[in-house]
Amino acid sequence: MGKSTKRIFLLTMIFLLGSVLVFGCKSQLETAPRTTATIPEGSLDSAEWGKVYPDHYASQNKQKEQTNGNSKYGGSLPESHLEKNPVIIKLYAGYAFSEDYNDERGHIFALEDVTSTTRVTDKTFSSCWNCKSPQVAGLVEKMGDDFWSTPFFDLKDEITLPISCANCHDPETMNLRITSVPLLNALKERGIDPNSFSRQEMRTMVCAQCHVEYHFEEETKRVTFPWKYGLTVDDAEKFYDEIGFKDGNHAESQTPMLKAQHPDYELYSTGIHAANGVACADCHMPYVKEGTSKISSHHIQSPLNTIAESCQTCHRQSEEYLKNQVIGIQDQVFATKQTLERALSDAIDAIVAADKNPNAKADAMEKARDLHRKAQWRWDYISSENSMGFHSPTETLRVLGQGIDLARQAQLQAHMAIGVTATGEANPDAGITSGKGTANEAAGGATPTKEEPDTKTKEKTD
Ligand code: HEC
Ligand code: HEC
Ligand code: HEC
Ligand code: HEC
Repeated sequence: MGKSTKRIFLLTMIFLLGSVLVFGCKSQLETAPRTTATIPEGSLDSAEWGKVYPDHYASQNKQKEQTNGNSKYGGSLPESHLEKNPVIIKLYAGYAFSEDYNDERGHIFALEDVTSTTRVTDKTFSSCWNCKSPQVAGLVEKMGDDFWSTPFFDLKDEITLPISCANCHDPETMNLRITSVPLLNALKERGIDPNSFSRQEMRTMVCAQCHVEYHFEEETKRVTFPWKYGLTVDDAEKFYDEIGFKDGNHAESQTPMLKAQHPDYELYSTGIHAANGVACADCHMPYVKEGTSKISSHHIQSPLNTIAESCQTCHRQSEEYLKNQVIGIQDQVFATKQTLERALSDAIDAIVAADKNPNAKADAMEKARDLHRKAQWRWDYISSENSMGFHSPTETLRVLGQGIDLARQAQLQAHMAIGVTATGEANPDAGITSGKGTANEAAGGATPTKEEPDTKTKEKTD
């Protein structure tokens, strides 16, 4: 070996050694140390899994930190929606949601929150345990469909653990898995094989186990997703209308209502991030440093608290800019949602007022209630979704816009039922007239009534 060859050799060795060290260091940062302990068979308790994966357990326990951080609309404090936005009390009249309805917080609190809300009573079914605990799947296996209709409190000694590692992971391989019976059923009905999902898709599908719209099937009270026709707000409505489903009657307008749950996965599916293959976990479980390793954050929370890790992996703009993008979208959605709330409130008042008139036309009243149902379903869908529209801004504004139109149509139909024109006051002596040429046209294609307009009423009301 000549002198220069020797030097090259040495330099190469130093470089290789350097690379090993650098990469060695890096890979130490990327994989969490796994202890020699194993997860006891059948264990569903995060604390047991945490002995094997201490960093993930520590990360998950950070969910106990409660703050609204950088959020304007989200955050982890369980604040009352009703105190913040009292019109909800009127819109939900007749529902338990009008009495107790708080903002959601970390998974770790799921069990505590479901057992303490006044919405859960002696009449509640075990369906309500579904998204709160890893113990549900085993009980459904044991009890079959009897599980769902069992009184809620009958199972309180068997359901003792909040959402845990076992909800999302296979204990042997730690691969992501779907344990939710309702999601497995929904996929089966749509002919989708749960084993066909890619790893990236699973980073969304584990969340779709719970962050979805559902109802309790009439006979069994089984938690069921309205996915027969697809994932949009209109698809779900089509399904509910087809089976003649209602969650209850509105206490003021007597409208047969639909109550939305939290269609986070469905709304997200219509958005630009889903279209680009960005998963829930990309934003809500970014890679972070925990202890000495780098792991997927299990402090699942608002991504506004981790913009660098959650967003700047793809977006080059500053943290401040990205935060303002999110809040800017949310401000627009919030304002449009308030417009819809006013329209709904007016529609309810109009239906209640018309209902007091013994001559109110039944078919117009029925139409008014049907429009109220459709309009409020759209409001509730967006209002109950957790991102204030960020998951799919364009679709959100489309749904709210449709809702505003439907709510004003409901109001017009109620006016027309008692012969009041679009701008008029009800005249109890006037009998029944149609609003032909005024209210009807504005109602945008609602079926015209057959009667001729009563000019007397018109003079009085214009
Ligand atoms: C592109 C990033 C991104 C993706 C993908 C994403 N989210 Fe979000 N999510 C956000 C942002 C931003 C907010 C608003 C947070 C806020 O207002 O503080 C949010 C809010 C939420 C909230 C309410 C959080 C709070 O603090 O109140 C939940 C729950 C949620 N998302 C669940 C999901 C689920 C489930 C999925 C997948 C189906 C998903 N997200 C996909 C960015 C994302
Ligand atoms: C709500 C679902 C969910 C829960 C609950 C959950 N994880 Fe995860 N976990 C994930 C997702 C999503 C990933 C990312 C997986 C991927 O990218 O393939 C992940 C990744 C991991 C990994 C792989 C390394 C990494 O950091 O990406 C380990 C180990 C892990 N989790 C352990 C745990 C432990 C231990 C618990 C309970 C203390 C737990 N997880 C609870 C969803 C969950
Ligand atoms: C087993 C059901 C279940 C699964 C699986 C699940 N969630 Fe949740 N999630 C809930 C429930 C229930 C709450 C509300 C808990 C409360 O308020 O007590 C919640 C709350 C949240 C919050 C609000 C946290 C806060 O601090 O305000 C976010 C964000 C969230 N989930 C995102 C996700 C993401 C992302 C996934 C998938 C990786 C996921 N969830 C999987 C049931 C689930
Ligand atoms: C894995 C990559 C990825 C991550 C992570 C990600 N985004 Fe995006 N984002 C995209 C892509 C791709 C688009 C679509 C860009 C396009 O088509 O022009 C997009 C679009 C957007 C838009 C435009 C939305 C619209 O409807 O037009 C905003 C705002 C945005 N992202 C904000 C965020 C924020 C805030 C976060 C973190 C909470 C985030 N993104 C995380 C990839 C990502």
